[in-house]
Amino acid sequence: MKIAIIGLGFVGLSLTSVLASKGFNIVGIDIDKEKCKKISNGISPFYEPDLEKTLKKGLKNGLKISDDISLIKNCDLLFVTVGTPQDTNGAIDLSIIKKAASTIGKNLKENKKQPIIFIKSTVIPGTMKNDILPILENNSKKKAGKDFGLISNPEFLQESNAINDTKFPHAIVLGGYQTRFMKKAKKFFVKLHPNTPIIITNHQTAEMIKYANNSFLATKISFINQLSNICQKIPGANVDDIAKTMGLDPRIGGLFLNAGPGYGGSCLPKDMKALINFAKITGIKPVLLNAVEEVNIKQLDQIISITKQRFGELSGKRITILGTAFKPNTDDIRDSIAIELIKKFLNRKVEITIHDPQAIKNTRNIFGDKIRYAKSIRDALSKSQCVVIMTQWKQYEKLNNNEFKNMTKKIVIDCRRMLVKKQLDVDYYAIGLGREK
Ligand code: UGA
Repeated sequence: MKIAIIGLGFVGLSLTSVLASKGFNIVGIDIDKEKCKKISNGISPFYEPDLEKTLKKGLKNGLKISDDISLIKNCDLLFVTVGTPQDTNGAIDLSIIKKAASTIGKNLKENKKQPIIFIKSTVIPGTMKNDILPILENNSKKKAGKDFGLISNPEFLQESNAINDTKFPHAIVLGGYQTRFMKKAKKFFVKLHPNTPIIITNHQTAEMIKYANNSFLATKISFINQLSNICQKIPGANVDDIAKTMGLDPRIGGLFLNAGPGYGGSCLPKDMKALINFAKITGIKPVLLNAVEEVNIKQLDQIISITKQRFGELSGKRITILGTAFKPNTDDIRDSIAIELIKKFLNRKVEITIHDPQAIKNTRNIFGDKIRYAKSIRDALSKSQCVVIMTQWKQYEKLNNNEFKNMTKKIVIDCRRMLVKKQLDVDYYAIGLGREK
């Protein structure tokens, strides 16, 4: 059996590497030639734990990487993992996936096999039936359900845990018509993940499941962030003890209750916007979703207001930001809250120094010489007046009085409560912690 994966971003490259490392006959396809060259040499274009190791194993097993889409000919399974970004209004931008569908369709014309096409990209409900299916049929002059299978197969992997999530997904969703292709797809996944629940449903439900998941995760985060803001007003209150106890209630669950500066990344903010937009089209007023988003956008005000309260005028103040990646163990800064914070501080003429174990290069691409980039945490703190811990990198847990000693004013704003238990000789503020009077 031959499998093609189209689009080698986080989802596509993880899937390509994992399947190839397991010995499947895989071709990974991306239009970006440079990217393909790198991947063929065993180098990941982005930082993701365990990815390069898995990729190298796959390459040893004969994994082929190419920018030539015609290689999908004679493949049995095609996984489409191209991006679905947002347009300027926040609505989903389907142009990339539509283009991919049309190219795939054209190449299907001469395909002797009857492949199954899995769409893993996140798309709003109706996209498969109204856009992808007709594009594929028109370009291939073939019929879905007869000449090829078409299945919605949303992905739930988390960046920084992509390999593990690809190997051990919590659920597999197969959306589409109940055809022989669906039976074959189920068989493939039962064999690949014998212990994982498989949900078989129609296209539109599968498409909606993905948004349900991401918007619920965003809701949990905004919920705990709102509570954390209230906690900050109660001297001695600690949001982590509250979250931990709530998490023990099996109806709630403990994950995604870690209060912080707001959710970022390439998925939750974008998918929230897309769902809000879609809800409006259906005639439903997305009151709750709007509130979740509003809480998230306003969360940064917490940090700005502490700095204003301590400094008064912010212009010319020296502030260090620890962590620009949208979460630890990635170099991804897309829609990172730390990047937003830096922009807000720069508007107020603050002098910014940043540190991040992986994301300096990406951050430099945005800010160039507008900010300073420190090689070490110590260097980042030297002569600084205030430090804001934004990303929960393990390295920042080790911060102590010795590291803070070269700061000229020792204001510490800990957005992740990493230093709560330490005896520090600093002016310490933490998101979700009510300062004792
Ligand atoms: C998210 C979902 O978690 C995945 O299931 C989904 O597959 C993916 O989007 C996607 O749609 O592709 P990801 O963007 O990798 O995954 O990041 P998350 O781990 O969800 O984190 C998102 C943001 O929420 C980060 O800024 C993180 O710091 C923040 N967060 C997360 C919190 O502030 N508190 C928490 O308790 C958890």
